[in-house]
Amino acid sequence: LTHFAIIAVCAYLFGSLSFAIIVSKVTLGKDIRNYGSGNAGLTNAYRTMGAKKTLFVLLGDIAKGAAAVSVGWALGGPVGKLTAGIFVILGHMFPLYFGFKGGKGVLVGTVMLAFFDWRVFAIAFALFILSVVLTKWISLGSILGAVSFPITTWLFYRDPVLTAMAFGMAAAVVFMHRSNIGRILHGTENKFSFKSKKTI
Ligand code: G3P
Repeated sequence: LTHFAIIAVCAYLFGSLSFAIIVSKVTLGKDIRNYGSGNAGLTNAYRTMGAKKTLFVLLGDIAKGAAAVSVGWALGGPVGKLTAGIFVILGHMFPLYFGFKGGKGVLVGTVMLAFFDWRVFAIAFALFILSVVLTKWISLGSILGAVSFPITTWLFYRDPVLTAMAFGMAAAVVFMHRSNIGRILHGTENKFSFKSKKTI
């Protein structure tokens, strides 16, 4: 049990390193949460800061996810990986260092999926790409990718514990997209464009 407490604390502290906030503050002296969709994540980083700065957000958030999940894997095997996944996502969503207001957990969730099972990852990623190509809504792709996670975990493992953990993470990601869901239903959701507006 102490192993899992260590995994959870480490992963939460890693997850709290929100690179969208760090990069916006360090390079522009501003807080990304006051711009664009207000989200401290990869999509809004690209939308408001352009490709170059977003590359640092991408690398930083991938690195923290990989670090957290590796610790979980080393100390706790498959359940340790998912435990680290849950807490790195929670850290990203509710960062200790930034007033508990972070991102929606899509990128760190994707990193965790890649470590968990390549088939689960591939199906979620394919759904994401397909929905974004068809609708240009990154949020919809993120939601559908998240929803697939507990379903594919159940299909491949038939394990109630792993599936419940996957369900919890997917539910958290969908919940964080509640304002996006409102905008999708009203047809006012932001559409992805390769041309960043750089509004910060
Ligand atoms: O990764 C979050 C994405 O699904 C939506 O981001 O900024 O459009 O709310 P955003």
